[in-house]
Amino acid sequence: MSADRLKADLVESGTMGRVSPIRVERRGDLDPKNGLTRPAGTQENKKIRDYAVRRMKEAGLEVQIDEIGNIFGRKKGSKTNKGTVMVGSHLDSVINGGMFDGALGVFGALEAVGRINDEGFENERPVEVVAFTGEEGSAFHVSLLGSLVLIGNLELDKALGMKNDEGITLKDALEAIGHRGNFHRSLDNVEYMVELHIEQGPVLDKEKISIGILENITGMTWVTATIEGEENHAGTTPMRMRADALVAAADIIRFVHKRVNEMVSEFDGSAVATVGKLNVFPNGINIVPGRVEMGIDIRDVVEKNMRNLTQEIIETFKSIEDKYYGVRTNVEISFIHSPTPLSEEVARIIEESTEKAGVTAKRMNSGAGHDAQNMAKKVKTGMIFVPSVDGISHAPTEWTNWNDIENGVKVLTQTLKKLSKT
Ligand code: GLV
Ligand code: MN
Ligand code: MN
Repeated sequence: MSADRLKADLVESGTMGRVSPIRVERRGDLDPKNGLTRPAGTQENKKIRDYAVRRMKEAGLEVQIDEIGNIFGRKKGSKTNKGTVMVGSHLDSVINGGMFDGALGVFGALEAVGRINDEGFENERPVEVVAFTGEEGSAFHVSLLGSLVLIGNLELDKALGMKNDEGITLKDALEAIGHRGNFHRSLDNVEYMVELHIEQGPVLDKEKISIGILENITGMTWVTATIEGEENHAGTTPMRMRADALVAAADIIRFVHKRVNEMVSEFDGSAVATVGKLNVFPNGINIVPGRVEMGIDIRDVVEKNMRNLTQEIIETFKSIEDKYYGVRTNVEISFIHSPTPLSEEVARIIEESTEKAGVTAKRMNSGAGHDAQNMAKKVKTGMIFVPSVDGISHAPTEWTNWNDIENGVKVLTQTLKKLSKT
């Protein structure tokens, strides 16, 4: 049974990158302390990449890896003049993440192509399963990296030269795991892109709806900053003579939380902002903190609001320099992904596919970033969401029920069939 084939892929890939390699088949098997960590270019990332390549080859696809490590598995079409339909997602993960984010979109795409093959369905357009490099940004500090290079919005050399926290470049990391290819994938002959993904929020689960059909994907900016104070003795340095980098950082954290809440109530807005990363140096109980590194994630579907909030946060860094004597800040914008509308044509085809499959569906936006938002800038792109139990994601307890996954793959398969003959 093909539903079993996809379940086997997700359970198997769900062992890759776990602290202790348990197999999770039921929600009750999840361990909140034992998530998946497989950032781009790591040995754990290699495991799932090698597995995906093997499964693509077993499905009869022609596999190629491009210069930034994106993996493509191609099934030829019967009409050589028609542009390709791409379908897929990513295989890297956040730190201590869950087993469906990204993996569902890649193995679900493989399953949909498997079903097309099993049926003997003749696709006119080529169908290409894709696994993008470094979607999460958890290693190289820029998210949606592989698709950003693919669409030409980030130079290949610049991306390959980016360093992870160990100072290793993406180029070296990809070479070390055998996933830096030499294929150059142009998008000239690509017509459509579809991504199946878990919702990662509570809406479908709460409303008991099987499928989300996406209209827009949120904009997203990361601000990274270093606050330099003066490392000194916690006992002998008088309160008025210290430059405490962590106290200054606390002002920023407060400001971010307070200001974004104000904005949301002011315009009934959709902005969110999170200080999710904080490294304190030297991190000793009896030492005045000398340096703090921070990472701030800022998102909104309204670009102007996202940019204004980012600007206000950057200005707040300047104000703490005046407030805390001796503190210096260095603030950078790592990237700005604009909010992106998806293709109405593809959304309508997904909608028809849900009707054909007899499953409930609703139109919605995504508050998570996806490679589809880059692809949408170049080709007609759509996204299909399936419910996340309790809306949990980017956490070890991320879960989607197998019957919801089956509904998602049914809709994806039908959508691909339609697109491949359009
Ligand atoms: C990517 O998954 C993001 O939304 O952070
Ligand atoms: Mn994610
Ligand atoms: Mn994802």
